[in-house]
Amino acid sequence: MPLDLSRRSLFTGAAGLTVSGLAGAGLAGCSQTAPSGTTDAAFPPGAIDPHLLGPAEGVALLSRNENPYGPSQSALDMIEYAASKGAYYANQEAAVSLMSMIAEKNGVDPEQVVLTTGSGEVLSAIAVLYGPRGPIVAPRLFWDTTALYAANLGMAEIQRVPLTDEMEIDLAAIEAAVTPDTGLVQLCNPNNPTGLVSDPATFQAAVRRMAATTTVLVDEAYIELSDDPEANSCVPLISEGHDVIVTRTFSKIYGMAGIRLGYAIASAETAAAIRPVVMSWSPCTSYAAGIGCYNDDAFIDFSKSKVTEARDMVFATLDTLGLDYLPSQTNFVYFKSGLEANAVQAAMAERLISVRGQYMDYNEWTRVSMGKVEDVERFCRALPELIEA
Ligand SMILES: Cc1ncc(COP(=O)(O)O)c(C=O)c1O
Repeated sequence: MPLDLSRRSLFTGAAGLTVSGLAGAGLAGCSQTAPSGTTDAAFPPGAIDPHLLGPAEGVALLSRNENPYGPSQSALDMIEYAASKGAYYANQEAAVSLMSMIAEKNGVDPEQVVLTTGSGEVLSAIAVLYGPRGPIVAPRLFWDTTALYAANLGMAEIQRVPLTDEMEIDLAAIEAAVTPDTGLVQLCNPNNPTGLVSDPATFQAAVRRMAATTTVLVDEAYIELSDDPEANSCVPLISEGHDVIVTRTFSKIYGMAGIRLGYAIASAETAAAIRPVVMSWSPCTSYAAGIGCYNDDAFIDFSKSKVTEARDMVFATLDTLGLDYLPSQTNFVYFKSGLEANAVQAAMAERLISVRGQYMDYNEWTRVSMGKVEDVERFCRALPELIEA
């Protein structure tokens, strides 16, 4: 099928979605409320209150799974250039150029790639598209923001399947829950907040079988951080003809969470069905940044080495304290402190260290992100004070 390059086909918005629906799309850790106490006088031309962008001075931001070493210089150079062209809507050629780069690296056609403002947007679009077809079957614990978005709109019901005793995705139980009435299976690999990667052979065999009955969405936001991204990815299953959608993001290893760029890979037909449900047009700065850094292997390797350095430090601290943790292959670690997760969060906040609070009823588990190595060091020094108090 030829690639339809019309702006309409690439960027059509969804007419029926409401303003409250948009506000409900809240993305991890972001707030759409206006900053309080700021006046024009606080922002002389050319200046900005540094507290409004990135962590405030002295704060170790270890709660949102960002990569503080980004964006790469290759992305920054392109952002600066693109910003100078910010009077204009992004040219579709920029989108097609990036789609082609992604397609080439993944052995698919450009028309199989859907670009969005962060992967959250395409995940929301998928939830809205497939939710009305039947329940979204998912592990009990996964990054559920976008499935909840469709649920909040009354467009989806989430059917949660308990994790195994090892807190892995219970693939057998998920498979058993899938019926012809299932709207979508949504899996996150590596999973968030557990950080666990499923065994590739077992995972891919289960995805192939389930995709014979329903569409399987695999959220690979953290795949580049895993030990063997190529072996772990489900993109080859799409080329084999299975009904599988894979989503990825520039927010994690590429260090561009605030720039907003993500994508889905699917069959050309599925990609064409998703595009009209996507709600916005990405900024020219995000396309340009993506083009700049997508193949910047030196930056990717550097980022991965920083994550590994920080993660080893966290593992060592947890070992010393005798605490249970999951063997993460991501830029965050989920560990059992034995203390109330929200109390750990509050005690860390007193020390200007930001970690995640409680997930569901996992009240003794805390997720800490691998931020700057020196910030993770601070966390590692603070944790024994809490545990041994
Ligand atoms: C598993 C997972 N998928 C997707 C996202 C969305 O990220 P973004 O919209 O920045 O691409 C996140 C954000 O933290 C995530 O953890």
